[in-house]
Amino acid sequence: MPEPQICPSILSCDPANFMDPVREMVEGGCDWIHLDVMDGQFVPPITFGADLAASLCQEFACPVEAHLMTMTPEAHFDGFIEAGCKRILFHAEAAIHSHRLCQTLREKGVEAGVAINPGTPIEAVLSVLEVADMILVMTVNPGWGGQKLIQECVDKVSALRKIAPDMPIEVDGGIAGDTIRPVFEAGATHFVAGSYLMKTPTIAAGIAELKRACV
Ligand code: DX5
Ligand code: ZN
Repeated sequence: MPEPQICPSILSCDPANFMDPVREMVEGGCDWIHLDVMDGQFVPPITFGADLAASLCQEFACPVEAHLMTMTPEAHFDGFIEAGCKRILFHAEAAIHSHRLCQTLREKGVEAGVAINPGTPIEAVLSVLEVADMILVMTVNPGWGGQKLIQECVDKVSALRKIAPDMPIEVDGGIAGDTIRPVFEAGATHFVAGSYLMKTPTIAAGIAELKRACV
């Protein structure tokens, strides 16, 4: 089994100071930085935009992915790509043309990720497996950090893994030292963690714990 890729979310960080915790994430050995972009329409909260992505991409070499919890995600592609994001994850539920949007992202030189909510069956992404670089299986309902992992979503990871043995599968929501292993064993490869890393003694220790739990 490949080593789990840890992608810390900054959603649970103090919005007045992202730089210090992100520096700890990067120095703590994270693989990606996960930006939770919310527009107040697809989900009730509003978070941050491409300007923050640009600051983080300029400051750190660690790749940054943008998780677009927005309506009309294609309206935001160029902003986050120009900011330096290397992967854009949009929601199948917000895209009339998810297949074409994946093609567009690849043409623009970034990885295309398609996300599905807990209430969306994996069938919603089967027709984009050839044009997507990652499927994001939400393990909480999007909009907030600190929620409990929804166990039924783990079965979706297993089912998708059987259909797409080589597809990178990211999980997002409720990932912690005591929940990550069953999701890893189900076949997930990339793990977003937000609030868990804000509770561990240090962010580096939390990242190490997540990796250790999958050994
Ligand atoms: C929720 C976001 C998640 C969230 C994860 O809408 O997509 O990335 O920040 O937070 P935790 O790890 O606290 O569940
Ligand atoms: Zn996210």
